[in-house]
Amino acid sequence: TRPFIVAIDGPAGAGKSSVSKLLARRMGFALVDTGAIYRCVALMATREGVALDDDKALESLLGRVRIHFQVVGEENHVFLDGKDVSSDIRTPEISMAASRVSGRPVVRAGLLQLQRRLALEAGKGAILEGRDIGTVVFPDADAKFFLEANPEVRARRRYEELFQKGVESTLEEVLADQMKRDKDDSARAVAPLKAAEDALRVDSSSSPLSEVVHSLEAEIVRRM
Ligand code: C5P
Repeated sequence: TRPFIVAIDGPAGAGKSSVSKLLARRMGFALVDTGAIYRCVALMATREGVALDDDKALESLLGRVRIHFQVVGEENHVFLDGKDVSSDIRTPEISMAASRVSGRPVVRAGLLQLQRRLALEAGKGAILEGRDIGTVVFPDADAKFFLEANPEVRARRRYEELFQKGVESTLEEVLADQMKRDKDDSARAVAPLKAAEDALRVDSSSSPLSEVVHSLEAEIVRRM
């Protein structure tokens, strides 16, 4: 039997990472941060001087992506070629680059199997967080959630998260960057950001994330 698959989608800053992390820990599920995977591809491309719209070069690069996740302390760290790149992928430059490469169909197709494999290798369950998990990566997920929050709340959370990680930025920059990425992510032709029809929509604008975690956990337990 395959692991219990949980899809958590939504825009940047809706609380996906915090909620997924807590949920994974409480349920004993593996956590697959698919945004981190797109960020790793962006990091590789940037380091290798590959243009972000050069499909041929991106395709050859995709054949060489080696990614795994590992919990270090309390955090889910991402390793590229065995090297911990968790902070390298969080810079504003890589955020924009990730958003750009994620709009290339060749990249999305190339990462599909990797995302599925990372989830199916998990023991009893896996939580995948991203933009198109419930619609494309696992349309038959056992539980689907779409997290939302108003733009100001999301920008503030993102800003706090970056601050904690030691990345220099201002709230204005984060908000501007977020608006651009939301627009690009929703407007792209392949796998745009949208809730699956059977996803449970959860707005976290005015509830503490711990409350969101509890309601998601209750729903998952009900479906197990
Ligand atoms: O979630 P995170 O901000 O780390 O994602 C970085 C970028 O990767 C997003 O702006 C989005 O363009 C892209 N992404 C995606 N599909 C996913 C996860 C992330 O297109 N499933």
